[in-house]
Amino acid sequence: MSITDQIQKVRAEFSSDLESLSSENGALDQIRIKYLGRKGLVASLFVQMGTVAADERPKMGQVLNELKSDITAEIDGLGNTDSDSSKSATSNIDYTLPGDPIPAGSIHPLTQVMEEIKSIFLRLGFSIVYGPEIDTDFYNFEALNIPRHHPARDMQDTFYITDNVLLRTHTSDTQIHFMENHEPPVRIIAPGRVYRNEDLSVRSYCLFHQIEGLYVDSKVTFAELKGTLDYFARELFGQNVKTRFRPSYFPFTEPSAEMDVSCIFCKGKGCGICKKTGWLEILGCGMVDPEVYKSVNYDPKKWTGFAFGMGIERMAMLKYGVQDIRLFYSGDVRFLRQF
Ligand code: DAH
Repeated sequence: MSITDQIQKVRAEFSSDLESLSSENGALDQIRIKYLGRKGLVASLFVQMGTVAADERPKMGQVLNELKSDITAEIDGLGNTDSDSSKSATSNIDYTLPGDPIPAGSIHPLTQVMEEIKSIFLRLGFSIVYGPEIDTDFYNFEALNIPRHHPARDMQDTFYITDNVLLRTHTSDTQIHFMENHEPPVRIIAPGRVYRNEDLSVRSYCLFHQIEGLYVDSKVTFAELKGTLDYFARELFGQNVKTRFRPSYFPFTEPSAEMDVSCIFCKGKGCGICKKTGWLEILGCGMVDPEVYKSVNYDPKKWTGFAFGMGIERMAMLKYGVQDIRLFYSGDVRFLRQF
């Protein structure tokens, strides 16, 4: 058989080998060895070039080189879709490398603390309700026993929209909305945003979050208030924290108290964060003032209850040791990635 015929034959055989190429790993390598290997069919054709007449040799050499480069290109082309593409001579893309990671977001620390507090009260049988952030003077003040010109209004710097409409300064407004529309027993918490026209600092921001609690039934006692809030504090900060209640004043509760937890940083020994007192103030609370019942048409002789309110930012700052409240609103991913 002439060398030209042999070249034709090898080309045809290569085509049919490719057609019946199995997808098995290594099948392509076997073909590569069969044709392009050191003792492969192409190499043996080159050996035979020695027998070709000198004047025909350049022409034959060219045809044979074409065969070799065609076979090489075909095999490399198929190899690129193969799993061992990294070894491909014509491509420097390694499809086996892992992709660039897609950065995942995280749950905002305020949301995390809010969810945790909600779940504690849900376990105690409280339901979650929401009130409006834009409210009227009546719900935010009047019905909570804070009449106009009452000095207690100075406790909260208010953003007024009109004389009568305002951004709520606390979630206590939701107590009134709820009691207006429901008869006792009432056992709710009301989370949400509140707004205050204060100078911005590491401790105060114009907007923050609170959770309000309200429990009204016949014969609710101050002992139940203490038991509920003590359980809550231990669930949130750990079973070893102690609580104490200090007398305080809020217009909508009587008697009123503030609850402290033993400092979670120094375990009550006294440190910079608790200002050497060993205690951290975490919420306000008290027995619902009969005046409040009157504004929602509850009979103050029939119903008793307790209420409490706490700031979420403060809880989150204590829990995570955050020093500046404004970080929660900065949108800075270096801060957010830590939670
Ligand atoms: N509304 C109060 C505030 O924003 C917090 C508060 C104190 C709510 C005592 C209560 C309560 O329900 O009983 O400062």
